[in-house]
Amino acid sequence: MRVIIRNDAASACISAARIIAALVKRKPTAVLGLATGGTPVVCYQELIRLHQQESLDFSQVTTFNLDEYLGLPREHSESFYSFMHRHFFDYINIDLSRVNLPDGLAADLPNACDQYEQKIVAAGGIDLQLLGIGSNGHIGFNEPGSSLASRTRVKTLCTETIRDNARFFGSEAAVPKRSITMGVGTILDARSCLLLVTGANKAATIRSAIEGPITSQNTATALQMHPAVTAILDEAAASWLGRRDYYLQSESGMSNPDHWQA
Ligand code: PGA
Repeated sequence: MRVIIRNDAASACISAARIIAALVKRKPTAVLGLATGGTPVVCYQELIRLHQQESLDFSQVTTFNLDEYLGLPREHSESFYSFMHRHFFDYINIDLSRVNLPDGLAADLPNACDQYEQKIVAAGGIDLQLLGIGSNGHIGFNEPGSSLASRTRVKTLCTETIRDNARFFGSEAAVPKRSITMGVGTILDARSCLLLVTGANKAATIRSAIEGPITSQNTATALQMHPAVTAILDEAAASWLGRRDYYLQSESGMSNPDHWQA
């Protein structure tokens, strides 16, 4: 895994945006896997800036979001559909027919999950999957105990996740209890993954994810089995890493960000 440590959260987000932008420039038809949450907002802001000021072109890009709350209509302000429009899609030239999120109101959920998987395959697979990490180590809504081979499915949210996301809903009681999420196996099928983690509250979790044993109790640990993962952390999130100095040494003098060591 490539581990990049930046001074602060904004620099980490900007570095992530630059990696995404470089892919879109190199491959205008790129398929991006996208994430929601507090962490990637500044990354999306930088991508919007690159679109508006440097003509970064999203017109042929296809996107698949990781997850969506079950039972929330798209129009709900906290649906991930609304989030993505509010923070990203409304400000770039993406073709909305190429934008995909799981449908939290699907009548036939198993079928909707299968269709989502099939749509990813039909699009040629995900070139780059942007990921955050939950305080319990989840990627997407793959809560502790999720199969590391799981595919898109309904997943019940853990107490920690409901508590963490209560800030968006005003109360824990208002947070939906279930989600549709890409599985860990779906995420591992992406050709590359970009894990963006900021803040001291994530330091212990990301240490386990990067340096701990692979376990379904922290589903981000499964990324250790993927050959092309870049983790971008700010100093606060990196503060518990046992091999922090090694990661800094590995990155020093790396002028070409595409040439990296898994
Ligand atoms: P956060 O969420 O960015 O709001 O901390 C991350 C996640 O749950 O994946």
